[in-house]
Amino acid sequence: MRRLRILVLMHPDFMPPETTEGYSTREINEWKTEYDVVSTLRAAGHDVRPLGVQEEIKPVRETIDDFKPHVVFNLLEQFHHEPVYDQHIPSFLELMKIPYTGCNPRGLILARGKDLSKTLVHHRRIAVPAFAVFPMRRKVKRPGRLALPLIVKSLNEDGSRGISQASIVDTDEKLAERVAFIHERVGTAAIAEQYIEGRELYVGVLGNNRLQVLPVWELKFGTMGGQAIATEKVKHDTDYQERVGIVDGPAKNLAPELRARIQRTAKRVYKTLGLDGYARIDFRLAADGTLYFIEANPNPEIASSQEVALAARHDGLDYPALLNRILTLGISRAKAGVSVG
Ligand SMILES: Nc1ncnc2c1ncn2[C@@H]1O[C@H](COP(=O)(O)OP(=O)(O)O)[C@@H](O)[C@H]1O
Ligand SMILES: [Mg+2]
Repeated sequence: MRRLRILVLMHPDFMPPETTEGYSTREINEWKTEYDVVSTLRAAGHDVRPLGVQEEIKPVRETIDDFKPHVVFNLLEQFHHEPVYDQHIPSFLELMKIPYTGCNPRGLILARGKDLSKTLVHHRRIAVPAFAVFPMRRKVKRPGRLALPLIVKSLNEDGSRGISQASIVDTDEKLAERVAFIHERVGTAAIAEQYIEGRELYVGVLGNNRLQVLPVWELKFGTMGGQAIATEKVKHDTDYQERVGIVDGPAKNLAPELRARIQRTAKRVYKTLGLDGYARIDFRLAADGTLYFIEANPNPEIASSQEVALAARHDGLDYPALLNRILTLGISRAKAGVSVG
């Protein structure tokens, strides 16, 4: 690829240093994605300008005017510390007529709501857990059709915010308590979903129109036992991961037809939600073979050590090639003109 000027937008707290030397694993994990993207694009010969953005949009505009990037690599997941504002960044870039990587604004909105995305996906006859939404300041009453145990989550936060083992509730009292916890501590509406016992599977998808689906990836919960879920601790605490033996890798022991069905379903979810760029679609596979859609993550974390990058490498697409593909998808979408609205 020719040498590109690439503006990398990121949270200011995650502006990576020049080198990882002298930092602990815990510190590196904070900005690993940003570090990997910036250093890999630089090593590929591009002119890369990282920019920390959170409360002011003006610096983005000024840097675009001054640096004239060919493309923006969008690693911003929040604005004003609000994840629900994430779609405004690509919207702004579209108005600026600058190509950007990752998902379009509409896909970000459709995928975010854990209720909206499930309703849309269910409409395509893909299994989803039954659910109910509990808005803020409203009394919690479990609808009769919703059987316990349930898992209670924030309606629109990600990164397992507010998810711990206590999120799985088996009484109405615990349900009310946990909904109140989400309202008060996370500050958003809550969703209670039918708890699906099963294998935790992730499927990366790349593309705008023609889609490439990555190998099915599995998160294994080691010795956690019982109703194991990807809590905040499971996702972010590296000591805990080591102690309990939490590992991810290619999903083993899936019959070829089942594997193909999972990959096909991931593509259908991606299309249903209007995603483009790259995304990771998460499922739970129940013992009876039912594949439940859990959530879609447009612009998932793509540190070289994380699921999407590992699955891509497993498929022969190494990390520099993966980033290159993501850049190309952003540029070609802009060339194709407005494709979603
Ligand atoms: N309905 C469910 N049944 C079983 N486990 C679930 C369900 N919903 C979520 N989980 C568990 O909780 C984790 C986080 O939930 P998720 O909806 O992906 O939230 P986040 O957006 O914070 O990642 C999932 O990876 C899974 O382990
Ligand atoms: Mg998730």
